[in-house]
Amino acid sequence: MNWARKKDITDCTVAINLFHLYPLIRPILFSMAAEKAHERALHFLEKSSLHPSIPDYPRLRVSLFGHTLANPFAMAGGFDKDGRVFDKLFHYGFSLVETGTLTPLAQPGNAGIRMFRLKKEKSLINRMGFNNAGIDAFLENYRKKAPLIPNLRFLGVSIGKNKNTPNEEAVRDYAVQIEKLNEADASFRKILYYAINISSPNTPGLRELQDDKAIRGFLESLKKISHRPLMVKFAPDFDSVSRFQKTMESSLEAGIDGIILTNTTTDADMHDAFRRKYSIPFEGGGISGQLLKDKSSFYLKTARKIVPAHIPLIASGGISDNNTVWERFVSGAGLVQIYTGFIYSGPLLIANLSQGLQDFLEKNHYESLEKWRQSLPEN
Ligand SMILES: Cc1cc2nc3c(=O)[nH]c(=O)nc-3n(C[C@H](O)[C@H](O)[C@H](O)COP(=O)(O)O)c2cc1C
Repeated sequence: MNWARKKDITDCTVAINLFHLYPLIRPILFSMAAEKAHERALHFLEKSSLHPSIPDYPRLRVSLFGHTLANPFAMAGGFDKDGRVFDKLFHYGFSLVETGTLTPLAQPGNAGIRMFRLKKEKSLINRMGFNNAGIDAFLENYRKKAPLIPNLRFLGVSIGKNKNTPNEEAVRDYAVQIEKLNEADASFRKILYYAINISSPNTPGLRELQDDKAIRGFLESLKKISHRPLMVKFAPDFDSVSRFQKTMESSLEAGIDGIILTNTTTDADMHDAFRRKYSIPFEGGGISGQLLKDKSSFYLKTARKIVPAHIPLIASGGISDNNTVWERFVSGAGLVQIYTGFIYSGPLLIANLSQGLQDFLEKNHYESLEKWRQSLPEN
């Protein structure tokens, strides 16, 4: 064995041991304020070349917009807003990283404490407010890192509006970013879709863009200029099921290509209960993680009943174990996104979920995940 090979193996062993130690490392991370721990994690990802060894399971391939992805697991929007670490996240197993949400101009987001752990409930509450370095800074990172994106792995890019842009002019904020993304990705072709984020609860008035009367014209004008499929991300907090259904119908009429369900929740009862329990040090915000699970699942199921099968749905909200993954596929999702589950479960999460899915398919003699999904009623 030559030295280089021996060193590889040693690095790999250190990495595997280190990642198995996450249950011991997590209390150290959790002793820091949530946003500080997140920044530390991003810094670690940026600087370190260590990563867990993730087996490749060809049975888990899925297709999205004519491309094959290594597996159905995606990092949800907001974890890697500025595209600082997506190249590293692929090595943790994700086949897709949704970067952003970006805005035309850099903005600091809300002041003060803006991310908080609800530890017992394996949930988070955040009021970040689209803190990001702006679309141009993202594109600089993207141009550098796009050649490092492995095969069968892609990006989604989530875009929003600047806080100071009134809703009447919001369409321009989205359009400017789409045009820049079209141009930047013409040669790399690693961006699979643009996600139109109109569901963050932390930009005042943003969710009004989901209104079923306004949304059609808004999405139509973005669809006209986009060189990539457009996905739209919705909230799990509509006034009524029929309003949600109308919004789905108007979005489909506008010609959108896919839907992400859901963003975080502003559910008042949930907020009251946990604000009291944890003395949360800020007002407002959106809850993610286990507490969001049932709501997200309900909206996904409701959407699948009216959204035609050829329009993909991506599930987001409270996913961190195989049962929930299966439940979302059965409810009509083609892919699942994860954020909070990764914080609580750690770096081996995607390896474990992949193994679970692979075992399930093998045991039940399904040739592939896609074959199993096709065998489900209503898919
Ligand atoms: C701290 C934090 C920041 C987030 N930022 C964004 C964002 O910028 N854009 C977005 O579309 N979603 C954002 N989200 C929502 C997540 O993408 C995801 O939809 C939501 O957290 C539910 O999934 P989870 O339960 O797996 O976390 C954010 C979530 C958290 C916890």
